[in-house]
Parts: sequence; C-alpha cells; structure tokens
Amino acid sequence: MATIDPSTDTTPPLSGPTADALVSFGISGDLAKKMTFDALYRLERVNRLPALVVGVAVDPWTDDELRERAHESIAAGEPHPEHKVVERLLAKLRYVQGDFGDPATYQRVGEALAGCRLPVFYLQVPPSLFGMVVEGLHDAGLTASARVVVEKPFGHDLASARALDAQLHALVDEDQLYRIDHFLGKMPVDDILLLRFANEVLEPVWNRDHVQAVQITMAEDFGVADRGHFYDPVGALRDVVQNHLLQVLAFVAMEAPQGHDPDTLRNRKADVFRAMDEADPQHYVRGQYQGYLDVAGVAPGSTTETFVALRLEIDNWRWSGVPFFIRAGKSLATRATEVRIVFRHPPRLGFRPRGHPRPGANHLVLRIDPSPGTRLTLQGMDPRTVVPQEYHLDTVWGDRTSELPTAYQVLLGAALAGNPENFAREDTVEETWRIVQPLLDSPPPVHPYAPGSWGPVEADRLTAGFAGWHHPWLP
Ligand code: BG6
Repeated sequence: MATIDPSTDTTPPLSGPTADALVSFGISGDLAKKMTFDALYRLERVNRLPALVVGVAVDPWTDDELRERAHESIAAGEPHPEHKVVERLLAKLRYVQGDFGDPATYQRVGEALAGCRLPVFYLQVPPSLFGMVVEGLHDAGLTASARVVVEKPFGHDLASARALDAQLHALVDEDQLYRIDHFLGKMPVDDILLLRFANEVLEPVWNRDHVQAVQITMAEDFGVADRGHFYDPVGALRDVVQNHLLQVLAFVAMEAPQGHDPDTLRNRKADVFRAMDEADPQHYVRGQYQGYLDVAGVAPGSTTETFVALRLEIDNWRWSGVPFFIRAGKSLATRATEVRIVFRHPPRLGFRPRGHPRPGANHLVLRIDPSPGTRLTLQGMDPRTVVPQEYHLDTVWGDRTSELPTAYQVLLGAALAGNPENFAREDTVEETWRIVQPLLDSPPPVHPYAPGSWGPVEADRLTAGFAGWHHPWLP
C-alpha cells in the first residue's frame, strides 16, 4: 500500500445533502476529549467540517474554554498538528451551556444555529438521556431536517432497545437516526468485504464446504480502569459482543451486496442475523478477572462478566453447521482483535508413508487491531525434516495505520455527508439483541481468571472438537 497523504480525503463519499452545522451534546465529557476533537481536526484537514460546530454541556464554559479544551485534546493525539487547520477549526467552535432537561437550553442551541438548514446533532450522552435530548430538540422545532447521531449502547436488552426506538421514532424518522458502532468506522472491518469479494481465490471457498469454524477474538490487555460505574451494569456481552463483534461477524458471513445504496449493505447484514437462532446458554462461558471487584464503581460481589466465550450458528446455505466462536475479554494476555477462518483439514496424503503427520488446516487471519493485516497459513515441506510444515503469507498495513482515517473521523464524516451505510439500523440492532437475549436471561456462573491469562479454562470446552482456541496472530 502506498503511503497516504493525510490531507487526502478518504472519508466516505457524500450521499445526502451535506450538513451545515454539527452540534455535539456532552462536549465536556471523556469521549469528546479522547475522540471527538481529534476527529473534528481530521475532518477540518480534509475540508469536511461545516462552518459551525457547537458544543453543548452543563459546565459553565465560555467559547474560549471550549477552544482551549479542543486545542489540548488535539495536541494530546497529534504530536504536530497543522497550525492552520487548528486555527480554522477553533474559529468554528461555539459553546452553549445548559441542562439537558431545560427547554431554554434548546432555545439557545436554536439561536446558535440561526440560518442553518441541516444540523447534525451528535449525542455523546448516557443512553438514558437520548430521549430527553431528542425531545428537547424536537420541541424547540430543531429536528425537522436534522440528523441525530447516537452512541451505543442502544438499549440493554431486546425490550429496552425496542422501547428506546419507539421513543426516538415518535420524534424523528429512522432515516434521520445514525447509530454509531465505532467498529463500523474501522477501515480493516470495512476491508473484509473487499478482501472476500475482490479475490477469486477466496470467495469460492468461503462457505461450509471448506470452512470448519470461524473464531473471532477481541482481547484487551487492560482492565476496566476508571469505568467501573459504566461497565458493571453492562458486562462484556453487552459492551462488545452484541454490537461490535456481531457486526464483524456479519461482514464475514454476508452475501455480496449488489448496489451501493446504504440499505443494500445493511439488508445483507440483516439477512445474516435473521438466519441466526437465539444463542444457546449451554454454549456460553463467562469469566471475571481477579481484582475486578476492587475497581471503583463495581458493586460488592458483582457477577458481571469481563470475559465471554460463546458459540453461534448461522443456519443458511452458506454456513449451516459451521460454528462461529466468539471470545472477548479484559485483562487478557494481549491486545488483539482478529477474525480467523479455519478451513477444513485436507485428507491423508496418500503419497506419503502411513504414520507421517497429517498436514494441518489452512487459516486465514484478518487482524483488525492493533496492527491491521492478513495472514494465510499454508502447508509446505520443511526442507530439513521433510515433513509438512506451516508457512505464513503475511501482509501488514504496518505504520501506515496511523495515517488512515480514524473510526470517528469516518463516522462523523459520514453523518455530515448523509451516508448512513456504516451505522447500525434499527432492525439489525433488534436482531442482535434477540440473538444474545437467552444469554442475558440465563447467564451461566462467572469463573474467575488471572489477569494476563486467556480467561477461564472453562472456555476451552466450547472449541474442544475444533482444535481449541487459536492464539491470535500478534504484530
Ligand atoms: C468500546 C467498549 O465500545 O470499545 C470498550 O465500551 C472497549 O470497553 C472498546 O475497550 C474497544 O474499542 P477499540 O477500538 O479500542 O478496540
């Protein structure tokens, strides 16, 4: 891959009319500090930011204090930000102070938006406030032509996801809603489709005739840190499986979308979820790292899982009978997110003496984090021992990863451009909750595991008939 000029615009193409203002609720929060200002800077660098960016929060800040926060956050992420770009961005920022429950806040937002036709409202607020903020905007007459971007989680189970949707749909239409799942803004996730369908050597073997199992691993080598209050009522299944990892699974399993309108891709994903039965708690293992109970904000004696391993099935012509194993956890041995396609074993090699080792299965690994890349394991001969040996064909995106657009740049850029393709649609959100619901209803006991391990040994039984969990391919 050639080096990418950071000023190249690689954000998704324009689709609907371009927004003329971005309003971010919760601009003083952690997500804004870590992600949003950096994304705004990157969008400004490629001239994709509207002329007005309004931050709204309860803190008694001035415009200049917002600009200071933006400046600090950008500098924390970019060692050498382009001065001119920063200046342009700061000049666009305005601050509106207000309580989200107070109608006067929305009047002030309306005044700040005077003359704007198509604002994007980005809600970086706890989900319990989504309804309140959208209602405030609606009652102030600001939603008619607006787009509303919300952050996960979208509900905490099927019933609450439906209730949230009903609440939001009473105020705005589905095509105005952009639900962020930041994994859908990751370039290596997007690349799965291209890899699958642009390679004649892959697509014909991408099915139950050739694949014995798929393993999706999301391992994090850090704990819950200061997020105990958020994490404890949520747990790993809701935090990353129902959303991020099922979205990744859909990219791996879907049929090729025919048509580049946003709904075609989302329809193909919905097909995958509709072909999946509810998950079986018998094929579900939960773990909790030792020390989790000491994290501030975690309830005494909490049985929240920080590790999950599960088996899912897709009952359609392409995948019936192929297990999709997912495991995700905090405080594990390493940080790595990968998809591993494990192909079937070749038959015994008749041209070799009986008793010689049989060749192993081919694996195709799609590494999403930390350093995107693709590995194909092949069998060849070890010239010293003359026995089959595993070889790796690796392509790694390498250092150039830092030059790629970040997930938030991609997704905010897409929302401003009116391109909903990489946002979670209502039906797929509900489908994914339907799939995991039995695991929420009948959770198995939580097993302790040592930080720095691969989770509880109980998880091994899930993959026992499939050569176990494979150690991720590490950079
Ligand atoms: C978030 C989860 O959605 O994704 C976190 O709430 C998790 O718990 C994070 O750590 C992982 O995202 P990434 O992009 O760092 O892999």
